[in-house]
Amino acid sequence: MDLINQLEWRYATKKFDSEKKVSPADLTYLKRAIQLSPSSYGLQLYKVLVIEDTAIREKLKPVSWGQNQITDCSHLFVFCIPKEYDPKDVDEYIKLTSQVREVALDQLEGYGSFMKTKLGEQSTEELATWMGHQPYLALSNLMIAGASLGIDVCPMEGFESEAYDEILQLKEQNLTACVIGTVGYRDQEDTSQNQAKVRKPMDLLFEDL
Ligand SMILES: Cc1cc2nc3c(=O)[nH]c(=O)nc-3n(C[C@H](O)[C@H](O)[C@H](O)COP(=O)(O)O)c2cc1C
Repeated sequence: MDLINQLEWRYATKKFDSEKKVSPADLTYLKRAIQLSPSSYGLQLYKVLVIEDTAIREKLKPVSWGQNQITDCSHLFVFCIPKEYDPKDVDEYIKLTSQVREVALDQLEGYGSFMKTKLGEQSTEELATWMGHQPYLALSNLMIAGASLGIDVCPMEGFESEAYDEILQLKEQNLTACVIGTVGYRDQEDTSQNQAKVRKPMDLLFEDL
């Protein structure tokens, strides 16, 4: 299947086959796709919880609009972002770049200061909005990588972020739940998979100048 066929194959799975589990090898592949996702300045200001534990997922379901995907999927991916931006994250990124690329720290200081200055110019609200955009590209890569393996991923915003923070003890880590993805295999009886895709026609979606 080429990429377009895979994107036509995927859909927002409503009913997962709760008997089917994603293999450890495939999970590693999906995690790698997330790890390779681009992010603003390369900072990757998010952490992803991969939850298989059924007891935790039972607790999360009522605060996820009661959606069955939470408990029926194989693994629940919770994309978390910092509650507050911390300039130390820029320092960590610079340190990592220095190690990976074998470049002296002082050669990277200018770039670090540039990032800190730019981010320092933004209000707390602007920073929160900016950080909240970042995991969506990683979620998108997760969906595409999943489709390439015949694994279903439903992107989901239908959950109470504060309740997730409480149940998953995210505040203690200065994190908050941003967006989630339920990962697994579609139930053959899920009628949503047979529905035609509703998409804007090309001439409305694009304007060629
Ligand atoms: C950011 C985001 C949040 C979504 N939240 C939910 C959700 O909470 N529950 C759900 O069943 N589908 C959710 N969806 C799925 C969309 O409704 C679905 O992607 C859209 O209708 C297009 O259908 P398709 O993905 O099957 O092609 C979400 C999709 C996105 C991108």
